[in-house]
Amino acid sequence: MVQLTLPKHSKVNAKGKTYDAPEGATNVRAFEIYRWSPDDDINPRRDTFKIDMDEAGTMVLDALIHIKNNVDPTLTFRRSCREGICGSCAMNIDGTNTLACLKPIDECKGTVKINPLPHMPVVKDLVPDLNHVYAQYEVIEPWMKTSSPAPTKERLQSPEDADKMNGHDGKGPAACILCFCCSTSCPSYWWNGDRYLGPAVLLQAYRWLIDTRDEAKGERLDQLEDPFRLYRCHTIMNCTKTCPKGLNPAKAIAEIKKMMVARQH
Ligand code: SF4
Ligand code: SF4
Ligand code: FES
Repeated sequence: MVQLTLPKHSKVNAKGKTYDAPEGATNVRAFEIYRWSPDDDINPRRDTFKIDMDEAGTMVLDALIHIKNNVDPTLTFRRSCREGICGSCAMNIDGTNTLACLKPIDECKGTVKINPLPHMPVVKDLVPDLNHVYAQYEVIEPWMKTSSPAPTKERLQSPEDADKMNGHDGKGPAACILCFCCSTSCPSYWWNGDRYLGPAVLLQAYRWLIDTRDEAKGERLDQLEDPFRLYRCHTIMNCTKTCPKGLNPAKAIAEIKKMMVARQH
């Protein structure tokens, strides 16, 4: 049996604090939140915040903002749009990777348990370090590549071709908000994330492969033709199950594999 040695300060074993609800609160919910700061020498802990739900709003992000504003201003998390568009507030809530701004508190059972996205280095509290995954995003060159002369106006696309990217139901690959809930739920990415690109980046690769205005399909497939970058997907489907936007990265990966086979014939 392999013995894993966890790095110093990676075990959640420091004693967490409990913050009680304000006196007189009758509608109280507890939130257990992962805390870690690079500014002290203490292991991660879980703090419990008991919140008066009559003051806190309906979504998990509302509760986090309420805690930051009213209880502990050092609580650190990313957020921007508050409506499932920016992808910043991705975290693990109640055991599932999702967006805090789209997750109703009422859908969580008992104490609401909140952790950073799994298997990512933590910058502080609920903020994962996305440098590596963005470097992987750069590998697929996520911009339009053309070799034909530029037209006098924009490069046009038929509504049918645009639908391939956007999806008839708005759930095509172009709807991906790069929240990385999928990549951080993928066991293959956990173990081989140094070389496997993971579902989020591969969905983006697919988005460019099916863009009829792009003229670098062969080059893009060459970049993915590698035992690790693409072929570490074993169709476990966690990615598709967890996507908070209802997208299907597993299918996109399967489509890329089909393109690889098709070009060999
Ligand atoms: S289908 Fe592929 S990318 Fe998605 S979770 Fe499974 S192994 Fe990961
Ligand atoms: S496919 Fe879904 S879960 Fe993955 S990065 Fe895009 S929006 Fe997020
Ligand atoms: S705050 Fe933008 S997706 Fe949640």
